[in-house]
Amino acid sequence: MNRKKIVITGGAGFIGNHVVRLFVNKYQDYDIINLDKLTYAGNLENLNDIEQKENYSFAHLDICDEEAINAFFKQNHIHSVIHLAAESHVDRSITNPLEFVKTNVLGTCVMLNAFKNFGDVANGRFYHVSTDEVYGELGDEGLFTEETPYTPHSPYSSSKASSDHFVRAYHDTYKLPIVISNCSNNYGSHQFPEKLIPLMINNIKDNKPLPVYGKGDNVRDWLWVEDHARAIDVIFHSGADGETYNIGGNNEWSNLDLVYKLCDLMDDKLNRAAGESRKLVTFVTDRAGHDFRYAIDASKLKNDLGWEPSIQFDEGFSNTIDWYLTNHSWLNNVLNGEYKQYYTKMYESKH
Ligand code: NAD
Ligand code: TYD
Repeated sequence: MNRKKIVITGGAGFIGNHVVRLFVNKYQDYDIINLDKLTYAGNLENLNDIEQKENYSFAHLDICDEEAINAFFKQNHIHSVIHLAAESHVDRSITNPLEFVKTNVLGTCVMLNAFKNFGDVANGRFYHVSTDEVYGELGDEGLFTEETPYTPHSPYSSSKASSDHFVRAYHDTYKLPIVISNCSNNYGSHQFPEKLIPLMINNIKDNKPLPVYGKGDNVRDWLWVEDHARAIDVIFHSGADGETYNIGGNNEWSNLDLVYKLCDLMDDKLNRAAGESRKLVTFVTDRAGHDFRYAIDASKLKNDLGWEPSIQFDEGFSNTIDWYLTNHSWLNNVLNGEYKQYYTKMYESKH
């Protein structure tokens, strides 16, 4: 029997490395190809525990490079694509929106086109990993459902919304087999420390100010990254063609409450006096166009496919803090840029 070649784009990033690890370990009969450009957010060190496995390989490619992507698809009979590669940080999208249009919109279309022309469209599928931010913002009440109209506000969420529309357009126009999921904020190991939780953990550890945007009353729903990877596994294998599934943790926190919780847990873990780390909180100028609240109704995923978060927030959050405190070298390598050498050391020297 032919082995299925599954491309996971963005596999060196935060969520991608967890998806790659899950698939490589769980599906020995799949060949998993991690296709990643290794931007500042891509870190192959994230995968050093599985990179020697026979069913794992790495393709150093840019999803915007149409010629290279087409050549890759022509050389490899690709069964399916799980597409995570993207520019993912809202603040960067405010400073450099065109990079987001390029990667998230054009890059997604290049991947769709290559899969349509050269992929195994009769048997496989194109799975597009997206965000709840496409739905815009909520007030104090309500939840995003799969029917909520798209109202993105940031250049990041607008570029993701646009990519979602293109994925649906390829389904409706060319009958491309697709599935989309829109997930809330993820937390867990291996997240680039520009995002709220690893940034705050690092600053608390180093006794640096904790920059809370505005009044800290914006609300996010937080899901453990490995539960997101589990949801992607379930939707990839069992989701209905052309459908969208919302993924969420049913776990809303205002930013300030979350940062205070982090401070209190870290006081305990670092043997500091109670309340010590809270003194580091510094309110800074709000993010432009800052969405007030995101919250997800994930009942479709639960009812249709039986997925639910596997762990309680208290446990996942505490484990996450421990991971960053234990893995000093990972954090230091990212902060001093050394992680960029990993590819050269581990891969280029082998050619
Ligand atoms: P990330 O920024 O940590 O990783 C992105 C990865 O994509 C990196 O490995 C990077 O090198 C790669 N990449 C970027 N541009 C590329 C290009 N042109 N060609 C090939 N590879 C490229 O992102 P993340 O937080 O892991 O998010 C992954 C996906 O999940 C994104 O599509 C994002 O929109 C979505 N998502 C993220 C969250 C979250 O909380 N982080 C929540 C919901 C959805
Ligand atoms: P972030 O991790 O950037 O995710 P997103 O913007 O995609 O939700 O930010 C999470 C929330 O934390 C968001 O409301 C912005 C806020 N925030 C801060 O208050 N301070 C910070 O330093 C960062 C990075 C984010």
